[in-house]
Amino acid sequence: MKVIVTGGAGFIGSALIRYLIKNTDCTVLNLDKLTYAGNPDNLKEVETSPRYSFIQCDICDSGKVAEIFRDFAPDSIMHLAAESHVDRSIDSPLEFVRTNVMGTANLLNCALNYYSMLPEEKKNKFRFQHISTDEVYGSLGKEGFFTETTPYDPKSPYSASKASSDHMVRAWGHTFKLPVLISNCSNNYGPYHFPEKLIPLIILNALDGKPLPIYGKGDNVRDWLYVEDHARALWLINRQGVPGETYNIGGNNERTNLEVVETCCAILDELRPKAESYSKQITFVADRPGHDLRYAIDSSKLQKELNWVPQTDFDTGLRETVKWYLENEWWWKPIREKNYSGERLGKGGK
Ligand code: NAD
Ligand code: TYD
Repeated sequence: MKVIVTGGAGFIGSALIRYLIKNTDCTVLNLDKLTYAGNPDNLKEVETSPRYSFIQCDICDSGKVAEIFRDFAPDSIMHLAAESHVDRSIDSPLEFVRTNVMGTANLLNCALNYYSMLPEEKKNKFRFQHISTDEVYGSLGKEGFFTETTPYDPKSPYSASKASSDHMVRAWGHTFKLPVLISNCSNNYGPYHFPEKLIPLIILNALDGKPLPIYGKGDNVRDWLYVEDHARALWLINRQGVPGETYNIGGNNERTNLEVVETCCAILDELRPKAESYSKQITFVADRPGHDLRYAIDSSKLQKELNWVPQTDFDTGLRETVKWYLENEWWWKPIREKNYSGERLGKGGK
């Protein structure tokens, strides 16, 4: 089976490609623009496999994307390429509209042109799989969970652009009968996570002796999922999901941001002790504009229909993640020195 993965040099895309190369016999083509978040080092473990190849390409480039479909002739496309950081969407919203909305529409158009030329038997197998976020559902209060039928209510330029891309995917499925699949997942964490997101930022700032910034009071809640559990869910949905359906994916690991940061500090205190606890570096800073209070996913549809359960609980996964950052300075040092050194993003107030 031949699969195109877009955004395969990013955090989740690279975990998915490592999973596909190690656990299936798929041939994988990674289509990625290599923005600041794309990093070929994320694929070191699989880059010499004869079943892996890479093409640098912007998903908005219709000519090049059409050519890739024609030449590679995929059986499936798994679409992860996106601008993914809420804080950056506050600073530069239009880049999010360009890639997440226009790029997804372009990819759908190219996929449809390709699909319409396929023989019937290949058509039956083809899937356009769109990887999205729980943030499209908006923000929860203290109670309740997002289900697949929760109305969309995105609040940030990031989540609005992802919601828009989900609508595009459903429209191509409904109008043109392109066999589409959508999943909406909660916050991921794990190895190779770009250090602009909460968990890797906290680990690396802690090691650098820098402040550990907590937006507002630290009482916002996220539902954390280990990235390898997400990769496994995505492949299951690709193989066994029903075209036209949506699946929510979540870890059932709700934590306040303060709890997450304190746990990171406690693990570091144990694995890399110093005179004072890392928790002394915790600093409360001005809140993110429009900060969503709580996300929590009900993933019972995926659990019941496709028999998926997360295998890594949060305490185990976080410990593994902290260990990984301690052991893999070769990966993060160049990023912190050249790409992003941890300064505050998305303060707003332009
Ligand atoms: P990431 O920012 O780590 O990686 C994004 C990748 O997309 C990068 O390799 C980047 O180079 C590439 N890319 C960006 N713009 C592109 C363009 N115009 N053309 C081609 N490639 C481009 O993101 P991630 O955290 O791995 O997220 C992957 C997907 O999963 C996204 O669609 C995101 O919305 C979704 N998602 C993420 C999370 C999370 O917690 N990180 C949770 C749920 C869903
Ligand atoms: P983030 O990792 O950016 O993911 P998302 O905004 O998509 O949930 O942030 C996770 C939570 O951590 C979110 O509530 C914002 C908060 N946060 C901080 O408190 N400090 C930080 O430095 C960052 C990056 C995030």
